[in-house]
Amino acid sequence: MNMTKKIKKIGVMTSGGDAPGMNAAIRSVVRTCTHYRIDCAGIYRGYQGMIEGDFIDINARSVSGIINKGGTILKSARSDEFRTKAGRKKAYDQLQKAGIDALVLIGGDGTFTGGMIFNKEFGFPVVGIPGTIDNDIFGTSFTVGYDTALNTVVEVVDKIRDTASSHNRLFFVEVMGRDAGFIALNAGIGAGAEEILIPEEDMGLDRMLQSLKRSKRSGKSSSIVIVAEGDKTGKNVFELAEYVEKNMPQYEVRVSVLGHMQRGGSPSCFDRVLASRMGVKAVELLLDHKTNLMVSINNNRIETTDLEKAVKGQHKINMELIRVSDIMSI
Ligand code: F6P
Repeated sequence: MNMTKKIKKIGVMTSGGDAPGMNAAIRSVVRTCTHYRIDCAGIYRGYQGMIEGDFIDINARSVSGIINKGGTILKSARSDEFRTKAGRKKAYDQLQKAGIDALVLIGGDGTFTGGMIFNKEFGFPVVGIPGTIDNDIFGTSFTVGYDTALNTVVEVVDKIRDTASSHNRLFFVEVMGRDAGFIALNAGIGAGAEEILIPEEDMGLDRMLQSLKRSKRSGKSSSIVIVAEGDKTGKNVFELAEYVEKNMPQYEVRVSVLGHMQRGGSPSCFDRVLASRMGVKAVELLLDHKTNLMVSINNNRIETTDLEKAVKGQHKINMELIRVSDIMSI
């Protein structure tokens, strides 16, 4: 495809795990298209819907009343077929048939990898908006959905704290983050957790026991350990609870797995604003004949990161936060 071809219609889709604020991003893309007097098509169910030609023409009014809605009106799916060349060719043909000239991809690593391959094979212009609660995308300080998930977790852990201190109990709370500890670490500090276990660092079980003993000695009426799904202790949250019960019979232990509730709910103001800013930028990049970029935010400025870097790089956790958490849980 000729990269300087005038863009008349942009397709927008959400893919991978959903995140609060994805609707706000869709709304922004659609309304920016209207602003620049070009057409916009919604692509249902990510790459799978693209292969099947499951498109809908959308305009500024079709996205009314969605800025505050969790989930994604365009749905999300994983597509094995898009991993094959034949599947991608089908998707390309469907886009051509619908007159779609460029794509805004809202999602994470997997979504962006698919977009890069698609661009390489067909020269199709693609721009990404980072949307995942995990905040694990390189090149951007924040992804759409992360702030909302943090607030959800803090709110729930505050409630768990109420019951934990009424019964003098220790709670292990598992939060999402298969490969990243952003939610665990930040929500953990926000909710005053005694210990936080994250995938980026193996703190060791001994350290956790020592810390819990210290808490007990200092007269705390409850303790909360936040465990990211992908923590490196080698034990899941139930095994951790058993381990502590065995080694510290003085503790009465309970487990709470927060699960997918962390992905739902009305987006925070931060996520709505972030999604709105990123949607505007994504469309403007495409109209400027830019491709293979992800919209990012750093120091409160909207910037871009090469999709390849976003996918290959690792968003590093701020280790200073671990120190802060240690001091706070004294
Ligand atoms: O959205 C990212 C994430 O929440 C991960 O932290 C988690 O491991 C994963 O999604 C689970 O997603 P699913 O149940 O959709 O496979």
